[in-house]
Amino acid sequence: MAFDIEMIKKVYSQYEERIAAARQVVNKPLTLAEKILYTHLWDGNATQAYERGNSYVDFAPDRVAMQDATAQMALLQFMQAGRPKVAVPSTVHCDHLIQARDGAEQDLTRAKSESSEVFNFLSSVSNKYGIGFWKPGAGIIHQVVLENYAFPGGMMIGTDSHTVNAGGLGMVAIGVGGADACDVMAGLPWELKFPKLIGVKLTGKLSGWAAPKDVILKVAGILTVKGGTGAIVEYFGEGAESLSCTGKGTICNMGAEIGATTSTFGYDASMERYLRATGRAEVAEAANIIKQHLTADPEVYANPEQYFDQLIEINLSELEPSLNGPFTPDLYTPVSRMREEAEKNGWPLKVEWGLIGSCTNSSYEDLSRAASIAKQAIDKGLVTKAEFGINPGSEQVRYTADRDGLLSTFEDLNATIFTNACGPCIGMWDRAGADKQEKNTIVHSFNRNFAKRADGNPNTYAFVTSPEMVAAIAISGDLGFNPVTDTLTNKNGEQVKLDAPTGDELPAKGFDVEDPGYQAPAADGSAVQVDVSPTSDRLQLLEPFAAWEGTDLKGLKLLIKAKGKCTTDHISMAGPWLKYRGHLDNISNNMLIGAVNYFNDQTDTVKNQLTGEYGAVPATQRAYKAVGIGSIVVGDENYGEGSSREHAAMEPRHLGVRAVLVKSFARIHETNLKKQGMLGLTFANKDDYDKIQEDDTIDILGLTTFTPGKPLTLVLHHADGSQEEILANHTYNAQQIEWFKAGGALNIIRANQAN
Ligand code: F3S
Repeated sequence: MAFDIEMIKKVYSQYEERIAAARQVVNKPLTLAEKILYTHLWDGNATQAYERGNSYVDFAPDRVAMQDATAQMALLQFMQAGRPKVAVPSTVHCDHLIQARDGAEQDLTRAKSESSEVFNFLSSVSNKYGIGFWKPGAGIIHQVVLENYAFPGGMMIGTDSHTVNAGGLGMVAIGVGGADACDVMAGLPWELKFPKLIGVKLTGKLSGWAAPKDVILKVAGILTVKGGTGAIVEYFGEGAESLSCTGKGTICNMGAEIGATTSTFGYDASMERYLRATGRAEVAEAANIIKQHLTADPEVYANPEQYFDQLIEINLSELEPSLNGPFTPDLYTPVSRMREEAEKNGWPLKVEWGLIGSCTNSSYEDLSRAASIAKQAIDKGLVTKAEFGINPGSEQVRYTADRDGLLSTFEDLNATIFTNACGPCIGMWDRAGADKQEKNTIVHSFNRNFAKRADGNPNTYAFVTSPEMVAAIAISGDLGFNPVTDTLTNKNGEQVKLDAPTGDELPAKGFDVEDPGYQAPAADGSAVQVDVSPTSDRLQLLEPFAAWEGTDLKGLKLLIKAKGKCTTDHISMAGPWLKYRGHLDNISNNMLIGAVNYFNDQTDTVKNQLTGEYGAVPATQRAYKAVGIGSIVVGDENYGEGSSREHAAMEPRHLGVRAVLVKSFARIHETNLKKQGMLGLTFANKDDYDKIQEDDTIDILGLTTFTPGKPLTLVLHHADGSQEEILANHTYNAQQIEWFKAGGALNIIRANQAN
């Protein structure tokens, strides 16, 4: 579980000089986020000031973390790089593939047998390439990272959007796609648009029922699900210092729900306490030496409006406990208004389930505060009206909470203790009766509450709140229950009131664990075999893509002219297909099945130019591939927006699509296409989109002189024998043109390793 103190000390040893260089170019006091960004430039000391929201910058992250669903393709790609070991400390965490149903023990046993081939692959590939492996049941990636690896002033990337959780320990931690993780593990820089900065000044102090969760629920209500896009949110002020480290983690975690690049807090006493309590006194001591650099310059916090692009102020003393939802995490309702809002909007008041857990809220403090409510319920003779489920964040939290009697308190209320894993938060919940799709309400301490997220039922109204509020509301069984003011009737018919929660920021007797579930990698992995069965339908080793043939591309068939929105979900659908994300050939059967065909307004129905018949997109493309004919995909504006899912670029590449020609690209998808050795082109004249006809055969000319900034020529051969020439722009730089020629970026990395 080594937390790489030498790496951390190296990062800190560079701080002084790099911050001095940054100060010189920026020429004004620096925020914390700027300090972390400028100390992690790929090229070392800053030589220019970057424009927030505009400049694309190469960074050198300190760590990579991957969860079991996204790690599969990231590591299959990494294997292509030909490196003996990962270039930066990296970990894999098995938390997404464990379904909650009967309780921890049975559920874990079932998951291990159902997903054994995925777990075995991840275990063996981690062992071989120097990656720390956290077994199924060890905990949820972001809690485990906070407990073991996050450090103030560090930068990490992770293949999960809630990687941002590590901001609770003063990191800049950002969620990325597998291709980015692969690059960083292979020793390449990682590119990010220099973010804008949102400051959140916290004054006052939380009290009563208000919890750190209420801070981010309030921020989400203010900024909405889009308000943080492209920005880092930096929290500061006396209120920030009064919050526990894991509470800060909760706030940063849900920064993903406002679209923020990430969120962070300056290094303070709560972080030092947490580092020491989790066995990292050495990190705390190293951080203390450069303390002044692990928070913004004092001028920034004195006049924040001058240094942030946007500023929000929240007085913690006035904050009310609240619930956000249903169906969106930014619909903010303070508990005092919930009954009225629910009645007005027809939200079912009867609460069926209360769920505590997820990477957002599964710390020791969370469990202890919720358990204090459960304990009162028992002592005051209350009977729980809703069902109760708990997913502890890590084995260390679970073991300690068990030792301290917190779990037995929940069990006394008939709670089911699920595995230390994501469970219902990622829809891995076999909820009895969910298939009946009845309208019902649940409350949970998770981060996301989009329709169908937890149990697949579109009629489940899910509300996000703090763990202690989940406990109170589940006990009452009433969404409108306000524990601050309302009473409940106990077994004896008496009216009783719940007192405000109490809890321990950190366990008084310290953390304890018998087996944390960690597997250290082999010191020399060269002899380790990676475990992939050739008959597996979930995993498939990748073959390198072929290099460019050195000529212009002629005779490409139009596969589909996509109309309107075409996101990465339309290109590579999620849902049931997630099962195949480690098997490129199988998952390619979802390629573009969500895209609308311009010529018939239907999805997944395109004309096969060889037979004249209409068929599914993947099948049609496979027919072209079988006879060695390349194809081209045409798209509209912002093609490939959505997630950074690399499958959306790998699938067309695998099936033989040679180029994607669109009015405009979402940048991440465009870069992913380039990495896979595809041609991503844009119409020089957007109206030329209208010239593309259903039976077109297309030539791409100019590839032998492919040069940055020089458009390519496309010849459209129409079915009536006529032809037209159009120009296509591209944004390939010299390096990216090499990627195209080599058949993909990984082919170049591998060739460089061999030399
Ligand atoms: Fe897992 Fe849910 Fe977090 S899926 S990583 S617990 S957001």
